[in-house]
Amino acid sequence: MLKLGLIGYPIQHSLSPWIHEQLMAQQNVKGSYELFEIQPENFNQEIKSLKNSRLDGFNVTVPYKEKIIPYLDEIDESARALGAVNTVKCKGDQWIGYNTDGLGFVDSLIHRYPESTKYGNKALILGSGGAARGIYHALADTSLQRVDLANRTIERAEEIIQDRPVTIQSNALDLHQASERMVDYDLIIQTTTVGMSPDTNVVVPIKDLKEGAVVCDIVYRPIKTKFLKTAQKHGASLHFGHEMLLQQAVYAFKIWTQTKPEAEPLLSKFEEKLKGV
Ligand code: ATR
Repeated sequence: MLKLGLIGYPIQHSLSPWIHEQLMAQQNVKGSYELFEIQPENFNQEIKSLKNSRLDGFNVTVPYKEKIIPYLDEIDESARALGAVNTVKCKGDQWIGYNTDGLGFVDSLIHRYPESTKYGNKALILGSGGAARGIYHALADTSLQRVDLANRTIERAEEIIQDRPVTIQSNALDLHQASERMVDYDLIIQTTTVGMSPDTNVVVPIKDLKEGAVVCDIVYRPIKTKFLKTAQKHGASLHFGHEMLLQQAVYAFKIWTQTKPEAEPLLSKFEEKLKGV
């Protein structure tokens, strides 16, 4: 019996139990995925009792992706570089930390649009929170020629670029500059919370897009945000947040089980599920 779970606060509305139960069924693995909602003031004590609960692995979400690090015995290189962990594998009482956020994004993107990160292409990330940081690191490891970051608070974009050893050309932009220059990019990824239901705004207006541009939004409620709808009107190919979410969970499941789960067969069922929540 596989024992999995999620720590975070608040997490009652998490889709992770549903996703991992589907993956267990797909891989013929028996087990459970439990929610461990931990109040911030009880974190230290609850984590210590989790050590004794014989879990095989767990996910970590807001606000504990950084706070979990001192409790780990090992940390994967990419999670260390990011300074954030979203997946922990438990080997007895040894905990090993990983981060599947950015990798899940790039994997799902390349699966859908194999040419989108090819050499010579330029990408623009809108937003500079934790999600943007993970995606930036994962994109910097592809063949892309340039990955720029745009944010309302430009200093946060600059910080992400400075924190990574120089391996790729990058500029920090404000949102006005991003809107003006959007036509230069082959790949645009919206990572802010703008457009998340019930909000129906766009983080920046889309004036013009490059021919053949791929536009992604990590927001998955609604599945097609106003940003994606506008991008589609300008001729873009779209990539959706729920596909990335699913792929990131697939990555975590692989780390825990050494099976080869697949996101694709779950996609339409997941879309139905999202319409109902
Ligand atoms: P996450 O870790 O999920 O990425 P976060 O760290 O709270 O979340 O980051 C949220 C992102 O959405 C940030 O880029 C934030 O911009 P600031 O850094 O300037 O705060 C962006 N964001 C949130 N609300 C916004 C708004 N109304 N307009 C523009 N950007 C917004």
